[in-house]
Amino acid sequence: MENNGRRGFMGKAFGAVAAVGAVGSLVAMKKTWDPLPSVKAAGFTTLDMSIYTEGEMVTEKWRGKPIFVLKKSAEVMKNEKGKPDAEARNIKVGNDNFMVAIGLCTHLGCIPAFRKDSNDFKCACHGGEFDASGLVQQVPPPRGFDIPPFKIDGNTLVLGEAGPEWQAMKDNGVTL
Ligand code: FES
Repeated sequence: MENNGRRGFMGKAFGAVAAVGAVGSLVAMKKTWDPLPSVKAAGFTTLDMSIYTEGEMVTEKWRGKPIFVLKKSAEVMKNEKGKPDAEARNIKVGNDNFMVAIGLCTHLGCIPAFRKDSNDFKCACHGGEFDASGLVQQVPPPRGFDIPPFKIDGNTLVLGEAGPEWQAMKDNGVTL
């Protein structure tokens, strides 16, 4: 029981990071102690979207997967204007626009690299390329980056929760 208590403390101290884990192990833990709020939120990652810098791609983590977060510059937004496929993937939080996507190549799962100069992504495995909205610009990837379930809550983005904006993307075939 002492060990379980220590786990609980760790969960509280490191929040979502410590709470990330296999569902199976959480089920096992649930049998021995009452989950703390942070553990109840397992599978959710909350991102404060006010901290990102325009044009700087940051890799976050959700359920063990890399999550690309790119706060779009005015130039990127200008390039996307009039391109419905790109606009449909845009995530607007407050006055800012983001690409938020699972950072795994949809071909065979490598992690593409961001190229700041060209505002796009290159997958070293087989040469796939994605633009700043996550759409394929060079095959073999069969589709753009997948977009994780998200909910916009003020200035934060809750990954792992399906809000109306994400549901609309899914319903419209923008993401799986
Ligand atoms: Fe990215 Fe093949 S895994 S192009």
